Amino acid sequence: MHIAVVGLSHRTAPVEIRERLSIPEQSMEASLQLLKADDQVLEASILSTCNRLEIYTLLRNPEQGIASIGSFLSQHSGLAVDQLVPHLFTFHHEEAIAHLLRVSAGLDSLVLGEGQILAQVKKMVRLGQEHHSVGPILNRLLNQAVSSGKRVRTETNLGTGAVSISSAAVELAQLKLGQARGIDELVPLDQEQVAVVGAGRMARLLLQHLQAKGCRGVVLLNRTVARAELLAADLPALPVQCRPLDDLDHCLSTCSLVFTSTAAENPIISAARLGALNRRSSLMLIDIGVPRNIAADTSALAGVQSFDVDDLQEVVNRNQEARREMAAEAEVLLEQEAKLFLEWWDGLEAVPVVNRLRRQLEDIREQELQKALSRMGPDLSVRERKVVEALSKGIINKILHTPVTNLRAPQPRQQRHSAMRVLRELFELNDHPPEA
Ligand SMILES: NC(=O)c1ccc[n+]([C@@H]2O[C@H](COP(=O)([O-])OP(=O)(O)OC[C@H]3O[C@@H](n4cnc5c(N)ncnc54)[C@H](OP(=O)(O)O)[C@@H]3O)[C@@H](O)[C@H]2O)c1
Repeated sequence: MHIAVVGLSHRTAPVEIRERLSIPEQSMEASLQLLKADDQVLEASILSTCNRLEIYTLLRNPEQGIASIGSFLSQHSGLAVDQLVPHLFTFHHEEAIAHLLRVSAGLDSLVLGEGQILAQVKKMVRLGQEHHSVGPILNRLLNQAVSSGKRVRTETNLGTGAVSISSAAVELAQLKLGQARGIDELVPLDQEQVAVVGAGRMARLLLQHLQAKGCRGVVLLNRTVARAELLAADLPALPVQCRPLDDLDHCLSTCSLVFTSTAAENPIISAARLGALNRRSSLMLIDIGVPRNIAADTSALAGVQSFDVDDLQEVVNRNQEARREMAAEAEVLLEQEAKLFLEWWDGLEAVPVVNRLRRQLEDIREQELQKALSRMGPDLSVRERKVVEALSKGIINKILHTPVTNLRAPQPRQQRHSAMRVLRELFELNDHPPEA
């Protein structure tokens, strides 16, 4: 059995490729079932976020299994395998484990140490369990990734400071507005007419950061106005006007800065839509949706500056150095966590030997018990028979306890292998039961 991850991320693929591979929650069950239907795939789980699509698997055979996942990705995205391959990464066993732990800790994120990825890893665990695509191995690994992600955030400085894609988006607006005025630093947002489209988790963070950066008020548009109103009620210090999505044209005509963060699968703002409006002379659009909410053709319009998640790199680079130092502490902690998982995994190697030994001793116990009971004759009461049987089971369990514990305890691989060999030889534990 072989643990592997195949995927792509903001490090290996631009947003136009990532959005083709993104798997919304409502399609997750079908995707997991498709993966599991392949004979090579023993366990599978999918991490789909705005910056990555990663498939964690337990495979029967690494080469055939990886090829199966490549075919799945090609079928899902409509991209040929050779178009996908330059953007894909594949990690095996120890490297796959280390990668997952780094992802969960936010060390592989665009915004180093951002908190949302941990919630997304938790969601991957929940979906894998709900749709029965994970078994004991991935379940253990994914849960270890969640606990490692929590440890990094509570035990290192990386968790300090509210960093997210949303905070980077607000900073990008500050930076670009500053640059437009000839200042290469972040400017306050108190002069801008700001709108946010979407009222989900990322919109909430956008509003919090907008408030912190001096924004005086926001128009919040959402498909479901009631959800926008609930969000606005949580931020009483920020004046928020809640509007239906139908008011988008009016907003695009009157606002100077518009953020989009909806889970819509197709763009909701395009050059054609903007071209038909009688709008202000300058408009800045910042889209953190993946798939993108704003079509790429908008950036060609005069007076429009349009940015997507990949453009956040510029602002992220500005404050990454300090966070990189904090990340070093987290790396040490993650190495310990990866070691714990690998020790558990290595301990599993002993399971078949232990099971065979237990079966062999159980057969002996059963035979000797029947002999003893028949010698004792028919006068034995039911209670006495049970006592004799329990005695025989107790002796076997006690004898097995110490060697089994020692065999499964963390230890160098070679040491475990030689202990297993000795057991096999001494007890003549064959891989296959002897023929009758
Ligand atoms: N979560 C993250 O860490 C993260 C990070 C970076 C980027 N993103 C991206 O940001 C976007 C929003 O993520 P989220 O986590 O905030 O999602 P969320 O909490 O699930 O909220 C989804 C929002 O999208 C709206 N929506 C869904 N389908 C729509 C459609 N067809 N037309 C118009 N509005 C629609 C929903 O409106 P209703 O209230 O009416 O349902 C809601 O406001 C996604 O594209 C995601 O990939 C997320």
